Amino acid sequence: MTTPDHYEVAYVINPHMAGNVGAVDREQALRQWKALRETYAALGCEVHVLEGRAGLPDMVFCANQTLPYLMHEQRGVVLSRMFAPERRDEVPHFESFFRTLGYETTNLPENVQAFEGMGDALWHPGRALLWGGYGFRTDPRAYDFLSDRLQIPVLALRLEDPDFYHLDTCLCLLDEETALVYPGAFDAGGIGLLRRFFPRLLEAPEDEARELFACNAHSPDGHHVIIQRGTTRTCRMLIETGFTPIEVDTGEFLKAGGSVFCMKLMFW
Ligand code: ARG
Repeated sequence: MTTPDHYEVAYVINPHMAGNVGAVDREQALRQWKALRETYAALGCEVHVLEGRAGLPDMVFCANQTLPYLMHEQRGVVLSRMFAPERRDEVPHFESFFRTLGYETTNLPENVQAFEGMGDALWHPGRALLWGGYGFRTDPRAYDFLSDRLQIPVLALRLEDPDFYHLDTCLCLLDEETALVYPGAFDAGGIGLLRRFFPRLLEAPEDEARELFACNAHSPDGHHVIIQRGTTRTCRMLIETGFTPIEVDTGEFLKAGGSVFCMKLMFW
């Protein structure tokens, strides 16, 4: 996780940020961030913390700057190429963080215009298979490279609705067989593909997905699901399917278009 000391809404690069410039209560944001960190710790996750930097208000959304992988015992990260110029200087901080830990770092080829890490690229739980969103933040050519470099199949999904600009805003992979999805964010081909791979596809109601980022939830263990507070119908569905939702408040971060999943990066 990355500390929110310099977090604010300072510019508008997605529809959720419009009207929220200058509107973040930073003390409240810090309380919410700490509560999320405690939630992960209580679930037994080892939490590494990277300091946020002045002038990089979105750095707190640390899912976006890299894509971590574990390939033939080699731990590494692919470094993102952020779509918005305002976010490009975040990447080198993650590069040095991972280099210090001894991770291999992989650069994208020149022809890839943009790629936003685990915002758009999600590992299928329990499989060497990557789901890749494109259309707003990521250039689909990134997936040709990743497939080749990591020797894995990539299933690319086109995103259609600007409120759901990253794959992690409309798709949450809960376990090998179960995903939570907002279908309205995908084209027919994309939804068809998801149905083929996930025998259990839970559909989040539109208001909870669009306003409360229900699909930006995260299950670190295939059992608990950390999710924005107030996603009542989604939580009920999760419980009926055998999951245990843990509701947290990420309200200050929703103002920038992010919630639980974007505020952490899982790596091996
Ligand atoms: N303001 C950030 C942006 O628009 C929010 C990023 C949220 N991250 C995510 N993985 N959805 O880039």
